[in-house]
Amino acid sequence: MWIADQWKDYEVIDTSKGEKLERWGNYLLVRPDPQVIWDTPRVQAGWRHPNGHYHRSAKGGGEWEFFDLPQQWSIQYRELTFHLKPFSFKHTGLFPEQATNWDWFSEKIRNAGRPIRVLNLFAYTGGATLAAAKAGAAVTHVDASKGMVGWAKENAAASGLSDAPIRWLVDDCTKFVEREIRRGNHYDGIIMDPPSYGRGPKGEIWKIEDSIHPFIRLAAQLLSDQPLFFLVNSYTTGLAPAVLTYLISTELRKLGGHVESQEIGLPVRESGLVLPCGASGRWEARY
Ligand SMILES: C[S@@+](CC[C@H](N)C(=O)[O-])C[C@H]1O[C@@H](n2cnc3c(N)ncnc32)[C@H](O)[C@@H]1O
Repeated sequence: MWIADQWKDYEVIDTSKGEKLERWGNYLLVRPDPQVIWDTPRVQAGWRHPNGHYHRSAKGGGEWEFFDLPQQWSIQYRELTFHLKPFSFKHTGLFPEQATNWDWFSEKIRNAGRPIRVLNLFAYTGGATLAAAKAGAAVTHVDASKGMVGWAKENAAASGLSDAPIRWLVDDCTKFVEREIRRGNHYDGIIMDPPSYGRGPKGEIWKIEDSIHPFIRLAAQLLSDQPLFFLVNSYTTGLAPAVLTYLISTELRKLGGHVESQEIGLPVRESGLVLPCGASGRWEARY
């Protein structure tokens, strides 16, 4: 498993009965987590006095209950700063387990010794975009939601990356990739974190089981003739690491290199165990 264990401003304190207790900077949140099917005793005091608790509803969705939580606050990972706003669904605006992927490709970008162009698809609030830009890449950031792109720009400004070479695009990822192929544009690194289900700005439907393989095939056409990496992340149960390896290997085999996929996870302070959070598939060049 790849573990995001370099956080200082974030930690999973404990997990029990379908929920996780997390520290985000100075604030404690309790949020649902479908992986947590164990009912270990809740000895940590934070369970009784969190600053925010997202209650699931039996009908699906749920709602937040807040106790002394600001509308917005920030946390840092290495040199990056992220604004947190836990209001839409159970999300805070950041998936901290992704830090293991940020570290992996940042090192590749730094060590490349040449200008690197990165494409970040389904880019959300920009965690991967900022990490790649901080490492020195020119980044194209694509997301269907204008609000998310705005939030990612705020995170870039907070991270001192306002003037970094980042292209911000509100677009449907499939349409964008098809257009880039026609334009003859190429990228040395491609990152994608597609949702299980999503919609483009014009209602274009994304359903991961139907869309992911053709999409990987399309996106692979955008790799430059000296590609560095190709990263696919998924939170969809069923897209196991071996499935990701299969999908990526099928399309990138002709390039040589190496594919490895693993679950990604976060350390849990109370138990000393690791909370599984999804899976990533990584292709890297071997020159
Ligand atoms: C990062 S992904 C998945 C995040 C999270 N792990 C989850 O499973 O919900 C979510 C992002 O994909 C974007 N998105 C969904 N469908 C899209 C599409 N067809 N084209 C571009 N972006 C899309 C959403 O706006 C959102 O920012």
